[in-house]
Amino acid sequence: MTPFLGSGIFFGHHHSRLLEFADSLPEVDGSPAFIFSTSGTGIRAARWFGRHYHRRLAELLEAKGFKVAGEFDCKGFDTYGPWGKLGGVAKGHPNKRDLQMAEQFATSVLDPLSPRDIETSNRNRHTAG
Ligand SMILES: Cc1cc2nc3c(=O)[nH]c(=O)nc-3n(C[C@H](O)[C@H](O)[C@H](O)COP(=O)(O)O)c2cc1C
Repeated sequence: MTPFLGSGIFFGHHHSRLLEFADSLPEVDGSPAFIFSTSGTGIRAARWFGRHYHRRLAELLEAKGFKVAGEFDCKGFDTYGPWGKLGGVAKGHPNKRDLQMAEQFATSVLDPLSPRDIETSNRNRHTAG
């Protein structure tokens, strides 16, 4: 089993239903898993503030025995709360470039999915931020 899991980011982590789903997965022995997300700030900017948007999902998967072998993120239009009244954050995202990066990520990780290629896949950390 090779989960490819992602959602928007809500209050600093993936959607709670996705986290519940990850927690319901069976235990495995080192199978690769891939994570993606969209968020108003993007992962990189969030890190400057000490927020690690993928951490909770990654930890749940690792607790099940998965090895997170690749991650992708890009910005997504955010109209939550006060941001909405100010016109929103990351308007226009995901944009064409984000989608191209997402396609590139999916292509690169779906190709070498056999366990022996985890080392290769492990370098697949893409951000379109
Ligand atoms: C209730 C709520 C909380 C959010 N929290 C964050 C957040 O903590 N950090 C962030 O960068 N974006 C945040 N966002 C923006 C979303 O991550 C962004 O709009 C995402 O693209 C939504 O994905 P979806 O359209 O697939 O649901 C939040 C949005 C909502 C509605």
